[in-house]
Amino acid sequence: MEERLKELETLALQQVSEAQDLKQLNEVRVAYLGKKGPITEILRGMGQLSAEERPKMGALANVVREAIAGKIEEKQAELEKAAVAAKLASETIDVTLPGRPTPTGSQHPLTKVVEEIEDLFLGMGYTIAEGPEVEKDYYNFEALNLPKDHPARDMQDSFYITDEILLRTHTSPVQARTMEKNEAKGPIKIICPGKVYRRDDDDATHSHQFTQIEGLVIDENISMSDLKGTLEVFAKKMFGDEREIRLRPSFFPFTEPSVEVDVSCAKCGGKGCNVCKQTGWIEILGAGMVHPRVLEMAGYDSKKYQGFAFGMGPERIAMLRYGIDDIRHFYTNDQRFVKQFNRV
Ligand code: DAH
Repeated sequence: MEERLKELETLALQQVSEAQDLKQLNEVRVAYLGKKGPITEILRGMGQLSAEERPKMGALANVVREAIAGKIEEKQAELEKAAVAAKLASETIDVTLPGRPTPTGSQHPLTKVVEEIEDLFLGMGYTIAEGPEVEKDYYNFEALNLPKDHPARDMQDSFYITDEILLRTHTSPVQARTMEKNEAKGPIKIICPGKVYRRDDDDATHSHQFTQIEGLVIDENISMSDLKGTLEVFAKKMFGDEREIRLRPSFFPFTEPSVEVDVSCAKCGGKGCNVCKQTGWIEILGAGMVHPRVLEMAGYDSKKYQGFAFGMGPERIAMLRYGIDDIRHFYTNDQRFVKQFNRV
């Protein structure tokens, strides 16, 4: 029996030392020390031994069992340590590895121009007003002195949704809405940026959807010179300090008198070139003194209050500023186009 115990001990210790992982080690534990293992069996068979031999063998069996258990414990600690080390090794970060670049977006040139214009007018005490893109015929046309059969409606081919509702063709309806909403019927100083829609075929200079920025100032004693001074500041800010503006007579049903505003060509300085079609001037916006009828329809006393208004297209301004030759570039989401404006 003594021999059998020694043999078991050698075998078990060998298997413990050969265990590759915690699972194998546990199998060895169960095999030798488990309830159905050989040592338990030997201890069970002690009854057959003589009275002197029994304590001797009992003690030996315990020594063997402890030796195996001790070795298992030792091996377990060793394997656990190795497992932690392996996990750490697998999770090591190579700090010398170059980082993966994260693509960053750039500001769209149209957004840039609109924000710049907003900042300029906010700095002059204007606030920003907005209105719906799906608009009533009333605000888009009628309240702006364009009754149903007015021929000037043809200037703006419209997307009608019903007889009375359309996609706004300009930002001017925000003028009518703001005046109507103003309960005190007092001074107003707003700009209204937003999207507008026209039934045009898309080409290099036309788009069925584009943006506008409207301006409206209402107060007592407002004159054409306030309009001119304001637009001069605007033109110099957008196109450079050396720029000049000129006003040409024009027609809009909602302003009287109406003007078209040109800025001196930034490319040739006014001498004439391909950009300004040899005229030295480039048209940038429409403007005028708010028509008394428009004031009256919104409930204003046109004897007491006057106003000026203007409407411009940020696409056109961006195209002139950055030399963009096709309006469709703004809407096709080509990153190569947008990225060029990262640093301007
Ligand atoms: N709404 C006009 C258009 O889209 C532009 C315009 C002209 C707006 C004169 C104005 C203005 O406020 O006074 O063609």
